Amino acid sequence: MVAEVKAGKGRKSGSGGATGGADFDFEQGRARVFVGDCRAALKRVPEVQAGTVDLVFADPPFNWNRAYDRWNSTAEKQHDAAVVKKAAKNYDTWDDGLPREDYLDFTYAWLKACADGLRPGGQFWVNIPDDTAAEIVVYCKNELKLPMLNWCVWHYRFGQNRTGGFINSKVHALRFVKPGGQITWNARPILEPSDRATTYFDPRTMSKRDGMPAGFRVPMDVWYGPYFGRVQGNNKERRPGHDNQLPEAYLERVILSCSNEGDVVLDPFVGSGTTGTVALQYKRRFVGCEYSLANARSAWERMTNLGMVSPGKALGQSSAIAKARSASEKAKKRTRVNKPTDDAIA
Ligand SMILES: C[S@@+](CC[C@H](N)C(=O)[O-])C[C@H]1O[C@@H](n2cnc3c(N)ncnc32)[C@H](O)[C@@H]1O
Repeated sequence: MVAEVKAGKGRKSGSGGATGGADFDFEQGRARVFVGDCRAALKRVPEVQAGTVDLVFADPPFNWNRAYDRWNSTAEKQHDAAVVKKAAKNYDTWDDGLPREDYLDFTYAWLKACADGLRPGGQFWVNIPDDTAAEIVVYCKNELKLPMLNWCVWHYRFGQNRTGGFINSKVHALRFVKPGGQITWNARPILEPSDRATTYFDPRTMSKRDGMPAGFRVPMDVWYGPYFGRVQGNNKERRPGHDNQLPEAYLERVILSCSNEGDVVLDPFVGSGTTGTVALQYKRRFVGCEYSLANARSAWERMTNLGMVSPGKALGQSSAIAKARSASEKAKKRTRVNKPTDDAIA
């Protein structure tokens, strides 16, 4: 259950409006969640004001007309109905069907607020679908002057079916950095066996000198696999009422590689709390903002009481698509190992 619910600074509990209201904040140990529109709530985060945030991960509303706090009904059954009712009044579901111009203004505003809060060398990840990826890349590079370190793609199966065009099966995971400081990069915890080791039995992978253990590599920039599917149906990670939950494995990869223990991880769109749950599991400090109090309560329960479902399970897994070669193919392969086409194998 929620460990502590306190009134926002300078406000009486329950008195805020839908935009930037500060009715309830959650705080315990290494975790804090500020409830309200992140454009206003971020101003109440001391580390944002000081520019000392180490890592931002943002998974904003996509403007796809989704209801973001359907958790309300479940919450009413499980928690204090009076509090949730008051919250529903004060924090209407975020309008996920804004006119395009308004959505872009909103997007640029939270991007800037987050970038301002980063320390030099701090990293900024944004999870965004095709619709707005280009605008975000251009804005971050040209206006915010954030160099881009990686353009990753999260590939999932079971996208929305369609027949008039290709079925969408990806979201962009954009990685930027604020210039001027030490960039955290921990490859070791996120390594995976290389295809050369698991599938092609290429001896070169056992004697390579890139500083990584024999047979292992840094994952490629397209992310997929058993633990990277969309969190749907009877998935063990699934939180009731949250349709937009990211898999733990995705955040595990980001947080382990791009932050250290004790670092401040910020998520301006907490949702079901995946970022905070993973950050706390790995001994980071977590600060989040969430518009819906019902979502914030659900996320808080997950972060501080339930924790990760499968910590570490996705780590070290091969993402090879092809099956391992048979012994006879393996023998043939050894004789062909230096042919140029072989270099195409990652
Ligand atoms: C795509 S979901 C985030 C999902 C999250 N990454 C997870 O794994 O559960 C976006 C969340 O942002 C919240 N939200 C929408 N507009 C917001 C705003 N202006 N400020 C803060 N939170 C907002 C929504 O209520 C929703 O919970």
